[in-house]
Amino acid sequence: MVAAIRTIAARGDAGGRLLEDDVIGRLVDPAELEEIQNLLKLGTATYEFVVSRCCYIDNWLHRFRADGGRTVLLLGAGLDSRSCRFPGLGFIEVDSPMAVKAKRELLKTRGIDPQCEVRYVGTDLAAILTAEEPSLGIEIGVLEQPVAVVAEGLVYYLPKEAIGGLFGIVRSHPGVRVILDYMDDRLFERQAPQSFERRIRAEGELVTSLWSVAEMEGLFEQAGLTVLEKVDTYELIRRDFPKTAVTFSSNHIIAGQARVA
Ligand SMILES: C[S@@+](CC[C@H](N)C(=O)[O-])C[C@H]1O[C@@H](n2cnc3c(N)ncnc32)[C@H](O)[C@@H]1O
Repeated sequence: MVAAIRTIAARGDAGGRLLEDDVIGRLVDPAELEEIQNLLKLGTATYEFVVSRCCYIDNWLHRFRADGGRTVLLLGAGLDSRSCRFPGLGFIEVDSPMAVKAKRELLKTRGIDPQCEVRYVGTDLAAILTAEEPSLGIEIGVLEQPVAVVAEGLVYYLPKEAIGGLFGIVRSHPGVRVILDYMDDRLFERQAPQSFERRIRAEGELVTSLWSVAEMEGLFEQAGLTVLEKVDTYELIRRDFPKTAVTFSSNHIIAGQARVA
């Protein structure tokens, strides 16, 4: 779904903020595009949120690269196309073994060559991040530094302890930057019953963890990560899609850095 939304945004089909991504449309199944047209008709701000989240993280990565950043660890990478759009950076894409296999086949059959060096790691992040010795399927220390960790559209699929595990790893690598988005724990109480979010839950998509802002920021603090920026979707959507009415901020983006001793 995320890739289909980005395709529509990259083509400019729905108005509002444009995404600069000429690869994503080649990864998407045309039938999915039709589903997204229906989503747009629902009038929830899901489309706007996904587009503005992607633009925000793109901008953050442009700054990371401009500051000399070298490697991006994409957790729950899905069909993320950044390895085709950020020359100069190296990528490690982590997702479930099935998702990694499907993406690699898709890239091959559609003749898409990432512009960057990419390593793929197929693993269950929920399992390895909650293990007694949490891991990411790859050692941050062996990667070309500086490193940024990106978890876009992933946190709500993972148990809270997994985020604790992630921060525990990041904290032992001073200087590593991290950006992620998470769902507000008031979401399901606030939404109208027919809303898209309730429907995905009812249809069995596994939303595992919702967070309060205080809880997420508390975990950053506890893990020795300095919060460097944060934004909620209300603010983001207002900036990128001024005509869309949003009354409640369902998601938040937070970015920080492991403290240097
Ligand atoms: C909503 S998609 C977001 C994909 C991508 N980050 C993006 O923004 O286009 C969530 C991704 O997280 C992956 N994911 C969810 N739970 C996971 C887990 N336990 N281990 C590894 N990947 C997981 C899914 O396979 C999916 O690719």
